[in-house]
Amino acid sequence: MAVLICITFSSSNCRIPTEPTFPIKVVNLGGWLVTEGWIKPSLFDGIPNKDLLDGTGLQFKSVTTGKYLCAERGGGTIIVANRTAPSGWETFKLWRINETTFNFRVFNNQFVGLDSQGNGDDVVAVSNSPGISETFQIVKDPINSNLVRIKASNGLFLQARNCHLVLVTADHPEETGWGNHDPSVFVLTNSSVMQGEFQVTNGYGPERAPQVMRDHWETFIVEEDFKWMSENGLDGVRIPVGWWIASDPTPPLPYVGGSLQALDNAFLWAQKYGLKVIIDLHAAPGSQNVYDHSSSRDGSIEWGSTNSNIQQTFSLFGRDLKNNIYPNRYARIPSLYAVELLNEPQAPGVSLESLESYYSAGYKAVRRHSSTAFVILSNRLSLSDSRELLPLASGLSGSVIDVHYYNLFSNDFNGMTVQQNIDAVYNRTVDLNKITTSNGPLTFVGEWVAEWKVKGAKAEDYQRFASAQQKVYGRATFGWAYWTLKNVNNHWSLKWMINNGYIKL
Ligand SMILES: *[C@@H]1O[C@H](CO)[C@@H](O)[C@H](O)[C@H]1NC(C)=O
Ligand SMILES: *[C@@H]1O[C@H](CO)[C@@H](O)[C@H](O)[C@H]1NC(C)=O
Ligand SMILES: *[C@@H]1O[C@H](CO)[C@@H](O)[C@H](O)[C@H]1NC(C)=O
Ligand SMILES: *[C@@H]1O[C@H](CO)[C@@H](O)[C@H](O)[C@H]1NC(C)=O
Repeated sequence: MAVLICITFSSSNCRIPTEPTFPIKVVNLGGWLVTEGWIKPSLFDGIPNKDLLDGTGLQFKSVTTGKYLCAERGGGTIIVANRTAPSGWETFKLWRINETTFNFRVFNNQFVGLDSQGNGDDVVAVSNSPGISETFQIVKDPINSNLVRIKASNGLFLQARNCHLVLVTADHPEETGWGNHDPSVFVLTNSSVMQGEFQVTNGYGPERAPQVMRDHWETFIVEEDFKWMSENGLDGVRIPVGWWIASDPTPPLPYVGGSLQALDNAFLWAQKYGLKVIIDLHAAPGSQNVYDHSSSRDGSIEWGSTNSNIQQTFSLFGRDLKNNIYPNRYARIPSLYAVELLNEPQAPGVSLESLESYYSAGYKAVRRHSSTAFVILSNRLSLSDSRELLPLASGLSGSVIDVHYYNLFSNDFNGMTVQQNIDAVYNRTVDLNKITTSNGPLTFVGEWVAEWKVKGAKAEDYQRFASAQQKVYGRATFGWAYWTLKNVNNHWSLKWMINNGYIKL
């Protein structure tokens, strides 16, 4: 295959990008083959009722009593309407069937439904999987879309009766004037919103999603970007992919086919411009962390909890599916530099034990096809010991430990000055040294960004911050990767940062 690709281009273009060089400076192609709404919000613009996507955390306040709906005890029993302030038990995670029809998942992960044991119109949260009686329509006030009614499968609306009668019952008829005296009217607010691949594809639905996603893949990252990277001192790319790419062109709904073609193009362009490619499994079946970038439907972590989704992950390595992207399809292409088996698995949802068994089997699977590709093992998020993978990795030659460093996502950085942020970067030298051992795995700072919580910082501040990070992370023995190449938020776009003189390589 490599030979084939080389003759497509003139031989002078046919460099060998896998020749190891240390440390490498690469950039992530975030938000491309695995959607992240904050990177490109316009991707969601055409979705009907785009405020009602999978995983949105909704809260409902009765207009008559001012009290919130609540899954009593977090789930497993009745829904009540007697809470004065919303928190976890008062938050209902959406599963979207279509733009008007939904399931509601409660804190303990049961689904809201009509009580089949009782008189049929009590509302409970007892079912572990949604069926017809767990299906509801959200009907918005045509004038004020924050006012909603919830229609149950029996055709009647949920209503919060007065405070004495706290049971929510689904027995209110059709008509309403949306007034403050109607116990079936609720004020809708969200406490959290998810915008990942599941949300965008399920939001558009099977008719529209294929075209929308194909347009995005063809326009967001193009050949010109690879040319630009090669001319601006970058050694390659880290490309996040989702598990559904392995069953392209017919992945399970709501995912749509075509991302494999985009990945093929990336390999062609990388080859042409002498860039290295790191494939990074960013979204595993069941999701390995709570974030939309692992394509979680509603923030639950289910990867690793059963053997079956670990087995399903192996299909990426060429066991059963014909495309088997990892690494059969690409192992002989010179630009395949490394395979990252899983991005940011999260403790304690993903146990060290299941992660280690997956990593060692994944490593063997890669080695069956490629003796040279590096195999990258991402440290768990929220773990206490950054060395936990060293015993395993030390026995795997060509393995790399990936750590991600952000001066964000933690209250530790609240109120820090520019200089304190820079000191915190230098302090990471200690961390990095801890995982850098002789004869052990290489080390990789697979994500970092010149963004922080400092308000109103000057261009020079950003330059100093970025340059401190380059200096410290440049000591990682494998290299570093900026997050990300393109982003509507300028500091998160390496292309913008370099073109505007904030970062020099
Ligand atoms: C969620 O709530 C916030 C704050 O009220 C609001 O600004 C935002 O538009 C809402 N997002 C969605 C998707 O509804
Ligand atoms: C809400 O109602 C339920 C059911 O009657 C009751 O068990 C619970 O204590 C009530 N909670 C509050 C905060 O009033
Ligand atoms: C949404 O799904 C429900 C239940 O399957 C169906 O009755 C309804 O017609 C659908 N609505 C739209 C807009 O597709
Ligand atoms: C950096 O480390 C030094 C020495 O341990 C410590 O005193 C300082 O508070 C740290 N600074 C930051 C910003 O973390």
